[in-house]
Amino acid sequence: MDSAYLIECAGLLLRWLHLIVGIAWIGASFYFIWLDDSLKEPTDPGLIEKGVGGELWAVHGGGFYNPQKYRAAPQTLPQELHWFKWEAYSTWITGLLLVSTLYYVQAGSYMIAPDKALQNPAAAVGTGIATLVGGWLVYDVLCRLLFKRSPLLFGLVYGAFVIAMAALLDHLLAGRAAFLHIGAMLGTTMVANVFFWIIPGQKKMVDAMRRGERPDPIHGLRGKQRSVHNNYLTLPVLFAMISNHYAFTYNAPHAWLVLALIMIAAVLIRHFFNLRHKGVYVWSYPAAGAAILLATLVWIAPAPLAGTAAGKAPSLLQVRTVFDARCIACHSAHPTLVAAAPNGVRLDSDAAIRAAAPRIYQQVVQLKAMPLGNVTHISDDERDLVARWYRGGAQ
Ligand code: HEC
Repeated sequence: MDSAYLIECAGLLLRWLHLIVGIAWIGASFYFIWLDDSLKEPTDPGLIEKGVGGELWAVHGGGFYNPQKYRAAPQTLPQELHWFKWEAYSTWITGLLLVSTLYYVQAGSYMIAPDKALQNPAAAVGTGIATLVGGWLVYDVLCRLLFKRSPLLFGLVYGAFVIAMAALLDHLLAGRAAFLHIGAMLGTTMVANVFFWIIPGQKKMVDAMRRGERPDPIHGLRGKQRSVHNNYLTLPVLFAMISNHYAFTYNAPHAWLVLALIMIAAVLIRHFFNLRHKGVYVWSYPAAGAAILLATLVWIAPAPLAGTAAGKAPSLLQVRTVFDARCIACHSAHPTLVAAAPNGVRLDSDAAIRAAAPRIYQQVVQLKAMPLGNVTHISDDERDLVARWYRGGAQ
């Protein structure tokens, strides 16, 4: 087994695992937000006496469930208490391994691009890691400073910071890596919230109760603040994580603004659902979110290629010179820039090129997503040649 194959296998297994544990984490988090907002005051005097402040009846998978939330805490804590933390931790660990395998090990093709400021792969990797750590430190300081201020003020200040980071990374790194690292920065912040604040706060509360003392409510308040922030970050993070499949977003001119607009739309839509759980329907939020999304997609639609005038369509032999120069460093049986031919697309034989013709046209002409980060410096004339070849029947 060669190292290229091993990298591919590691990528597959890590991505799969990352997705599974990520679903478990975000799923549990969505469930608890919904549960909290859907609780009804109990009418049963027995429950009220026990200190239950809210309950809910649900049916799922053939069983009836009746979760109850205590106003403060039960008189005595049961020995066994389930903690929700490994979902978050394992999402972060698999995510870090995945970004290392795909982006840091292959930094020359994934982290840098000729039109971006950083040209040294090691410096690009350093920038990526510094973003994850620095993003958390700035967030944490802002949280402490603005703890007693309005959540909206915090949201605006932190939102401005995230947008500034998007602009900075878009300037320094390949667009694909910039988007992914904004997502990874937010994801790291969410997990650090769980690790440094939410779980330790809960531990302090439980310890106080086991000692027979009243827990200090500040731990609950701080945990709640962080948990609300995590909730608003989920949709933006998930977009950033899938964005690497959509080159027309991260390769657009002013890509940082595209990312910012999509994230703002995501937060507005999330806000609608948070209010809806409480029975308040403010349709202007999702309407504004959808309008921003739509306007962004219309704004970044690639312009049709000019200069594809009539004339004899180029032959396969002619376009192969383009592919040989610009593509096979990645798309061949033995690529030099990446571990293995990406997405199984090989452009080193006539048959393979003909078979991939529609995808080539889409990637090179319509989306301008390939060559990746234009590391191989394809020219507009060459794109034009590929366009005329495809429109002439790709013969
Ligand atoms: C630096 C490496 C690199 C170069 C050079 C490169 N590609 Fe790619 N290509 C990739 C990667 C990575 C992917 C996978 C992208 C993804 O999954 O989002 C890909 C995916 C593709 C796909 C598949 C898209 C799909 O439908 O799934 C096509 C087609 C493609 N490239 C064509 C080309 C052509 C044509 C060229 C040359 C003009 C080229 N590529 C140059 C790295 C490269």
